[in-house]
Amino acid sequence: GRVEAIILVGGFGTRLRPLTLATPKALLPLANVPMLERLVRSLPERVTKVALAVHHQADAIAAHFAAIDCGREVITVPETEPLGTGGAMRNCREHITGTALVFNGDIVSSLDIEAMLAQHRATGALGTLALWEVDDPSRYGVAELDGNAIVGFREKPAAGEEKSRLINAGTYLLEPEVLAMIPAGRKVSVEREIFTQLASAGLHGFPFAGSWIDAGTPESYLAANAMLLEREATAAHPGASVRGNALIAADAEITSSIVGPDTVIGAGVSLDKCVVRRSVLLAGASATGAVIEDCILGPGVAVGDDCSRMVLAAEGELRF
Ligand code: GDD
Ligand code: MG
Repeated sequence: GRVEAIILVGGFGTRLRPLTLATPKALLPLANVPMLERLVRSLPERVTKVALAVHHQADAIAAHFAAIDCGREVITVPETEPLGTGGAMRNCREHITGTALVFNGDIVSSLDIEAMLAQHRATGALGTLALWEVDDPSRYGVAELDGNAIVGFREKPAAGEEKSRLINAGTYLLEPEVLAMIPAGRKVSVEREIFTQLASAGLHGFPFAGSWIDAGTPESYLAANAMLLEREATAAHPGASVRGNALIAADAEITSSIVGPDTVIGAGVSLDKCVVRRSVLLAGASATGAVIEDCILGPGVAVGDDCSRMVLAAEGELRF
């Protein structure tokens, strides 16, 4: 049957500032495609409707989807005040008729949604959470499993208090009863208020392997781009140096990087070549005569000095 999706994209993207001051996190490109568009296009065909739960920079997100066709109905559901992950879902309730497929908007993964749905139906769970194993679970939601049943859930537990290494991967299948449990009209963290309550009471886990990255920090944003670079042979367009207004000069050395449209990389005054390693250059960025490593250059940013592990945007810069 059909499934309707809710994608949570109303967060402030604080950990990716200053990039997210001008561009919503959801529209930051991963291998040149805005991360939210990538997610919407990757959904199984049975997902005929997608509700985007928006708040911060809602207009930019709505405008982006008004201008493209993702082959399914995409609506934006705004919040006047940020309602948190749970409140945002609850706010979408009138648009959802059956099982909801819910996503955090900043995840790139190899999760098989059809397989997760098959388990969800077979167990008759109220909710099923995709789970991913990590070495350090402390900055995530942590699930304790007994068979398929989640018997404990803790959001961002203090170091040493993690009950398992299986984390909430930010993708859920939720029955209407779960959305109905969420108090309306106030801020609610689904992780802290609802998943804790549903542990041992109908919440199941779907552990999966393959790949998973939350692209919400500078390091993980670079890692997500690097992962897609490896996965998508097409990311490097043959002849990219001569397409459009992009210019990659003969004196440029580019390794393991993603170079957006209308970017310029070449020699400068102080260095007769330019080196770009493990970096992402967004549209219109330019790098000249410098060594740039592990950096994110925001839209239109011009860099002429060496830099490493930095986020650079017109609004400012961040060392990480
Ligand atoms: N509409 C709306 N309103 N969306 C919101 C709000 C809100 O008030 N607050 C957060 N979001 C969106 C964010 O835009 C993001 O897409 C998603 O909800 C999750 O928020 P993050 O701020 O990225 O959370 P996190 O990364 O610290 O933790 C979450 O994700 C982890 C996996 O990456 C939690 O769900 C953890 O349990 C989980 O392990
Ligand atoms: Mg996140």
